[in-house]
Amino acid sequence: MSAVGTATVRHLLRDDDLTPAEQAEVLALAAAYKKAPYDAKPLAGPRTVAMIFDKQTLRTQASFAAGIAELGGHPLAIDGKLAAIGERESVADVARVLGRQASAIVWRTYEQSKLAEMAEWSGVPVVNALTDDFHPCQLLADLLTIQEAKGRLEGLTVAFLGDAACNMGNSWAIAGAMAGMDVVFGAPEGHWPATEVQDLVRTAPWSGTIRTLADPVEAVRDADVVVTDTWVSMGKESEAAERERIFGGFSVTEELLAHAKSDAVVLHCLPAYRGKEISAEVLEGPRSLVWDEAENRRHVQKALLAFLMQRSGVLEEDVVV
Ligand code: NVA
Repeated sequence: MSAVGTATVRHLLRDDDLTPAEQAEVLALAAAYKKAPYDAKPLAGPRTVAMIFDKQTLRTQASFAAGIAELGGHPLAIDGKLAAIGERESVADVARVLGRQASAIVWRTYEQSKLAEMAEWSGVPVVNALTDDFHPCQLLADLLTIQEAKGRLEGLTVAFLGDAACNMGNSWAIAGAMAGMDVVFGAPEGHWPATEVQDLVRTAPWSGTIRTLADPVEAVRDADVVVTDTWVSMGKESEAAERERIFGGFSVTEELLAHAKSDAVVLHCLPAYRGKEISAEVLEGPRSLVWDEAENRRHVQKALLAFLMQRSGVLEEDVVV
């Protein structure tokens, strides 16, 4: 197991790499950073954070780059096509090279197993910036956004509508249950979070719960929060027409929202496809928190990097808080 000094290196490869208490701690630090975005400089030096993107990105690259700069660090963006990790050279070789240049590594890629291999060899914290299986940074941003709107997370009901058999569905099941929420997935049968993820959540000692329903109206009934995501995740583009047919009845519209609580809020990680998974009216309407949600990526990722680097011994104990 790799270590910096005497500390074990901490990573965020999936949502449950934080404990529920640590999840709450990162969210509290993110809220503090949001109040004073330019005050804390734990990455002063500047320390370099490498960001590698094998898939398309806008919010993730922008929010990590801005956030790392606000912490006093240097964001190094690496084009995944040029690096060709796993083709030009092995993940283990790249990990050991980048671990000598950067104080942390942020990676958006396809296979979760590659991310785990990077973490095994890097010697510095590795952060999942989206894989096919999980999107934990987005979940931290979603939780912060809900906490701001509702004043709490514990005990809230969240309805996730549409394609839940993807990174966002898996991450919502884990992170939502860890935060003490009741997460209801409204999707056609077979398009719910992975069976292993469902089994894990149902047996984990977390205060939240998950449910899977094939009826969109029942899924949103009395929800405090309604969440959706594209029906065509990156890498699934060739299935677009088929997916629009499958998920057609699960669009988040004003009509569907009438079954949620009257003060329900709406989240979408973006990019959004108006008229598909969400109507333009809902996305642009008063319940939509999508722009706060996009901003919050920066605040939570700053807190996460500071937390992981501090716990890994990369930063001095007292520079984070
Ligand atoms: N499920 C989507 C999330 C985009 C942020 C995808 O993987 O493309």
